[in-house]
Amino acid sequence: MSVRSTIATSNGSAPGIPAAGAPRPGRSDAEIAERVDALIAQMTMAEKAGQLTQYFYFDLPPSEENPEENKDLDLPGAAPGGEADVEAALARGEVGSLLFVTDPAKINRLQRLAVAGNRHGIPVMFGFDVIHGLRTIFPVPIAMAASWDLAAIEQGQAVAAREARAAGIHWAFAPMVDIARDPRWGRIVEGAGEDPYLASAVAVAQVVGFQGDGLGSPGRVIAGPKHFAGYGAALGGRDYDEVNLSDSELWNVYLPPFEAVVKAGAGNIMTAYMDLNGIPAAGNHWLVAEVLRGTWGFDGFVVSDAQAVHDLRTHDFAADLTDAGARAVRVGVDMEMTFGDPAYVHLPEAVAAGLVDEKILDTAVRRVLAAKARMGLLDDPYVDEENARIVLADPAHRAAARTAAQRSAVLLRNESGVLPLTGPGSIAVIGPLADSRRDTLGPWVFDFDLDETVTVLQGIRDRAGAAVEVSYAPGIRPAHRRFPSMFDQFGGTVPVDPPGFDDAAELGRAVSLAEASDIAVVVLGEWQNMIGEAASRSSLELPGGQLALLQAVVATGTPVVLLVMNGRPLDLRWAAENVPAILDIWYPGTQGGAAVADLLFGDVAPGGKLPFSWPRTVGQVPMIYSHTVSHDPGHQDRRYWDEASTPLFPFGHGLSYGQFEYRDLTLDRNHIQPGQTVTASVTVTNTGERAGDEVAQLYIRQRHGTASRPVRELKGFQRLTLAAGESRTLTFPLGPAELRYWNAAVRDWVIDTTTIDVYAGSDSTADLTTSFTIGLPV
Ligand code: NOJ
Repeated sequence: MSVRSTIATSNGSAPGIPAAGAPRPGRSDAEIAERVDALIAQMTMAEKAGQLTQYFYFDLPPSEENPEENKDLDLPGAAPGGEADVEAALARGEVGSLLFVTDPAKINRLQRLAVAGNRHGIPVMFGFDVIHGLRTIFPVPIAMAASWDLAAIEQGQAVAAREARAAGIHWAFAPMVDIARDPRWGRIVEGAGEDPYLASAVAVAQVVGFQGDGLGSPGRVIAGPKHFAGYGAALGGRDYDEVNLSDSELWNVYLPPFEAVVKAGAGNIMTAYMDLNGIPAAGNHWLVAEVLRGTWGFDGFVVSDAQAVHDLRTHDFAADLTDAGARAVRVGVDMEMTFGDPAYVHLPEAVAAGLVDEKILDTAVRRVLAAKARMGLLDDPYVDEENARIVLADPAHRAAARTAAQRSAVLLRNESGVLPLTGPGSIAVIGPLADSRRDTLGPWVFDFDLDETVTVLQGIRDRAGAAVEVSYAPGIRPAHRRFPSMFDQFGGTVPVDPPGFDDAAELGRAVSLAEASDIAVVVLGEWQNMIGEAASRSSLELPGGQLALLQAVVATGTPVVLLVMNGRPLDLRWAAENVPAILDIWYPGTQGGAAVADLLFGDVAPGGKLPFSWPRTVGQVPMIYSHTVSHDPGHQDRRYWDEASTPLFPFGHGLSYGQFEYRDLTLDRNHIQPGQTVTASVTVTNTGERAGDEVAQLYIRQRHGTASRPVRELKGFQRLTLAAGESRTLTFPLGPAELRYWNAAVRDWVIDTTTIDVYAGSDSTADLTTSFTIGLPV
């Protein structure tokens, strides 16, 4: 089954969640155009500039520990002012959108100010970072990608959309569709990893989840894929730093997920912060005007990243803020996202000075107002506060989050059948992350409910029941960042050292518990404020004393299951040789601990697969499976003299409780012409003794052509559950979309006359193979 057909057949509705309906009457393209043009005809230049400006409105509750928190956020580039200035702009009718408000009552209050302040009664649109859930927190996006389960991914964002829309939010700044090949970059956690084929499929599933049948579908929101484009390739993995990408990398790797979401009808695109090949993304004519609007025909609205239009001055690109605004709007950035000192308030001056044609402003305003009209805002701008309460508490959402966490876990290693656990009398749960509710949720969440968050410890206790003795010791205190995160200002994100923590005694207690138990479950990883935006790292080691803790527990001789809580690959070289079972649970969300217990006890089988190559050490990055072959390939695994140059775990790797064998890889024809499709079939059998989940993967390799091509490229996948002994035959079409590539010599898409090797199996090292030719004489 191809990725496209999976999406097309999914109806996107979760249990208890109405399927997306058709857009409401009265919102045809013609009706919207007429309504919007009538408004634009009456608007002043300042009102137009206002519609193109989106302000942060920070109204997060102060944390209990520090009531002063969130009062004066220290954000890069922000000018003094804050909420009072935003409310003054609302009163003048000069605000297009607000972000960061999630309380329905506050949304209604601000909306009333907006409608009363605007001469035409135009409401504001509310946007928010709905990244992996609003109240019900799903596993982080990289985890969802690791499920390779497009229906689960779509359902997760459908739940998030339903909660967001019920709260009064119209637009999610998601999905992040940036390819990430350097795990030093903290935002790898927000995307789908290294591969353009997987990432495109995941991105489309998310857009469909958010938007349903399209803008205006009930219970759905506008999707805003980001950050256009190339952000994941930041120099040295350092967030916001410059990106330099070749023509081939851009077209073959970094742009495909964006093209896919545009084709899927995403209503918005967010531009990136950094310079792409020397030109800031928010002022990049080639990116926005030529590729996005020209080549792909994107007709939604484009927003800048926060402060990125203002930053055109910071980049030493624009001369001043008037120039910055003029240049961004000219390339097609319709809306400026700002937390102070906006550039777009200078647009009236820019028009007066002849830097921008008023028609360009009108086009941008038209796109923004059309989105508002499609979302029904012009008819009904307020939110039903009572309904929000009911929707946010829907148990069906928690159930969907639990399933998602089960499906996203990746079983990296399972020697001597340690997992699933069968009847231990006692379990020692060890590590500070095992009982941290905030870290279980992961980064990029703000509206969560800690009280209902299930940690790993809680999940194991609940599942094990009274007959099993479950004991807990953190063993060590939490690790800390050397430099604080800007998110630390929001409260509750910084791990707290337990008062009076005695390091030696606590380590000893953890070891004693392990010694006295049948099994030790050790939870290690990164604290959630160590991953995400502004959370890049120069190393991949387990922070703090975690490796020493693991080594001490393993030394007891009690069998150990290591659970990794992470959003990037970590240096697990020691664990991969010394710990019999390793399960990557990522940041699994609200129901994370319950899902982990389901997996540990074998109520469900793990079946996730790595969406990136897992390096052994930071010195290997960036490391990708889809590299080309070059001189001396026989020593490809020995490119360094001090460490193997292969990954610790390959892209696509993941085990289950079944065993899978692949056979009978066949093609429906062995020769095609360019433009034709060949269909591969392969039979997968679960030869194990238990049911299991598998993601069957199909890769190609081109033997020769007009460019060197990667040794393997993913071109199809399907996740399936097979009972013990069960077989299934799967088919994968390979047509023009899979066989074409961007050739930097001719600067165009090509399908070469060549031989293609096809591989099918459990991961990117699959060796069951066959081949076909394209365009060659038979
Ligand atoms: C900056 C981030 O880069 C972007 O992803 C996010 O959507 C905005 N801030 C708004 O929070």
